[in-house]
Amino acid sequence: MELIVVKDYEEMSKKAAAIMSSQVLLKKDSVLGLATGDTPLGMYKELINKYKKNEIDFSKVKTFNLDEYYGVDRNNSQSYYFYMMNNFFKYINIDMSNINIPDGTAQNVEKECINYDRKIKEADGMDLQILGIGVNGHIGFNEPNVSFEAQTHLVSLDDKTIKSNARFFNSIDEVPVKAISMGIKTILQSKKIILLASGESKAKAIYNTVKGKISPETPASILQLHQDVTIILDEKAANLISF
Ligand code: GLP
Repeated sequence: MELIVVKDYEEMSKKAAAIMSSQVLLKKDSVLGLATGDTPLGMYKELINKYKKNEIDFSKVKTFNLDEYYGVDRNNSQSYYFYMMNNFFKYINIDMSNINIPDGTAQNVEKECINYDRKIKEADGMDLQILGIGVNGHIGFNEPNVSFEAQTHLVSLDDKTIKSNARFFNSIDEVPVKAISMGIKTILQSKKIILLASGESKAKAIYNTVKGKISPETPASILQLHQDVTIILDEKAANLISF
């Protein structure tokens, strides 16, 4: 694991966007794994700016998002599809047929998950996967005590996650309790992984990820076994790790 500690959220976002850009510059048809939440928003903004300045071309890029709320239609403003469209895709020259996000309203969830993994496999896996981290150490929506073996699957959200994500909804009762998420096994097949963390609320999860024992209690701790992981974190998220 390589750790890059930067001053603040802005620097974290710039660094992440720089790594993403060089990936796409070196391989025009890169397969990118994308995340939602507050953390990658700054990175998406930076990437949009780079696109506007003609510094990056997304026309051949293919993307796979980590997760989607179960039972939430893509047109619903709370869906991760909506988030991706409005925070990133509609501002860049990506080919919409190259975008992949699990369908939270699929009639046959099992089939949807199998198809999602099949599409990832057909694309030869992610060249670069961006991850955020939950306060409980989740990645994607792989909650504590998840099986490391799991591929894309339907998950029940942890109470901590529901509480934490309530900030995006009018009330906690509106937060979906299930989601379709890439599994740990799917994520680990990515050639390169960048995990982003900002703020004090992530410090404990980062400590457990980097210094803790590898255990399903902290899903992100499995990243210790991946051959190419870079963690970009600001000083607040790094404050429990001593170098
Ligand atoms: C969400 C998402 C994750 C994200 C995490 C942290 O529940 N499923 O992919 O990384 O929580 O979110 P945030 O960046 O808003 O702290």
